[in-house]
Amino acid sequence: MKLILIFALITTFISLALSRSQFWGKRVAGDRMIISRNVTIYPRAKVIPMHLFKFPLAGRSNDRLITAVQVLDNFRNNSGVTPILKVGGPGRTFTTVLLQGQSGRGFNASVILYGR
Ligand SMILES: *[C@@H]1O[C@H](CO)[C@@H](O)[C@H](O)[C@H]1NC(C)=O
Ligand SMILES: *[C@@H]1O[C@H](CO)[C@@H](O)[C@H](O)[C@H]1NC(C)=O
Ligand SMILES: *[C@@H]1O[C@H](CO)[C@@H](O)[C@H](O)[C@H]1NC(C)=O
Repeated sequence: MKLILIFALITTFISLALSRSQFWGKRVAGDRMIISRNVTIYPRAKVIPMHLFKFPLAGRSNDRLITAVQVLDNFRNNSGVTPILKVGGPGRTFTTVLLQGQSGRGFNASVILYGR
């Protein structure tokens, strides 16, 4: 029991250390990618890089239900992004995801939405 817990802690730690990729929701039969966006922010001294990803995009509408929200941290080290699902997401037709990086560092992330 203790060993399993320690193993879980270690694997959590490793995945956090390698990247902060996130997956919310669940792919289902018949869904497909509805949008994919790469967000690259260049480092600026003492600035915490942030990007608010809003779907549907400004001036657009969407009537498909989101099944899954995926954020890929394209930096495969521990200096990348921490994604936070702020609004909507799986089961909704809209979502807002906050991508937050680390002070003085840039990030490179992909936001991918699946829906049907
Ligand atoms: C977005 O990022 C992914 C993952 O790094 C890459 O495979 C893809 O080519 C990029 N797409 C664009 C349009 O830059
Ligand atoms: C960062 O994102 C761009 C696309 O926006 C991609 O072409 C590039 O390979 C990425 N770089 C890294 C280090 O992941
Ligand atoms: C992490 O990887 C990215 C892309 O390869 C790089 O630009 C960045 O400087 C790296 N960060 C650190 C702390 O090594």
